[in-house]
Amino acid sequence: MMTERPRRNRKSAAVRNMIRETGLSVSKLIFPVFLVDGKNQQIPIASMPGIHRWSLDLLLKEIEECMKLGVQTFDLFPAVDESLKDKEATYSYHPDNFYLKAIREIKKEFPESCLMSDVALDPYSSDGHDGYVENGKILNDKTLPILAKMSLAQAEAGIDIIGPSDMMDGRVGYIREELDEAGFTETSIMSYTAKYASAFYGPFRDALDSAPKFGDKKTYQMDPANKREALREAELDTLEGADFLMVKPALCYLDVIHMLKEKSALPIAAYNVSGEYAMLKAAAEKNWIQYERAMPEMLLSIHRAGADIILTYFAKEFAQMRANGSI
Ligand code: PBG
Repeated sequence: MMTERPRRNRKSAAVRNMIRETGLSVSKLIFPVFLVDGKNQQIPIASMPGIHRWSLDLLLKEIEECMKLGVQTFDLFPAVDESLKDKEATYSYHPDNFYLKAIREIKKEFPESCLMSDVALDPYSSDGHDGYVENGKILNDKTLPILAKMSLAQAEAGIDIIGPSDMMDGRVGYIREELDEAGFTETSIMSYTAKYASAFYGPFRDALDSAPKFGDKKTYQMDPANKREALREAELDTLEGADFLMVKPALCYLDVIHMLKEKSALPIAAYNVSGEYAMLKAAAEKNWIQYERAMPEMLLSIHRAGADIILTYFAKEFAQMRANGSI
């Protein structure tokens, strides 16, 4: 006699709907968008089908469409002309910086949107590294003041959430202090807490032409073999005043997401990165996978593992599918 039959709880859509343990809503998604200077630009990114670099005029339209679908938070990344890059990433806080102008403009047009920035030297650095380089080394403490200048300029422009993605030690505390001293006590920080030295950032570096000019990022980004080290980073970020902790990438690091969710009281975010997007899109193009099912399954799994918030290039498409009732 079999008294326990788990299948009874799967017997109809009504029962399945009733017992479903997790559900992902569009309000949990952050949409990363790429910005270029100029007008009327919508430049496709070869390794990220469906994703573009936008000039501000067209980005405003894209944001409007997303907002109508319920996507409210956008993570902005600038693609900077090579001629504007230097060792100290000075363009990152230059008053004429198109990225800072865009933040102002988007907040003016859509005050109810939530904007997140990226704080790291790489899009502005002639070395293509996240930190300041001297004699082939990435210098932690010389990087901090540059990150703080960049953060202050973004806060002044009206950014809601600062996103330090550089993995320098002590940067969350350093940035928090500088923001507070300047009166930006309401500007949040979402720290890239456990950012791994991953192969899955490739398409993003194509999108921004931001690949390192020498070496790799292993002296600052985490070793994919490590899990407990993420706890140490999380403790420090928490003590230094982070408002959110992020794990990046997402799919290969679901255990890390789960661990931080269990151990921390802060909201946990996961970055479903460019390579993860590209893999699924490529398989879908070849008809090797059923995209409409695989994509929401991927996002749901990241959420189920413990991510309260997901940064994903699928955000708009997910919201469209939700709006037309297919998921
Ligand atoms: C830069 C940065 C990277 C990403 C976000 N911010 C790339 C890197 O560290 O090389 C990756 C995002 C993605 O792959 O989608 N500091």
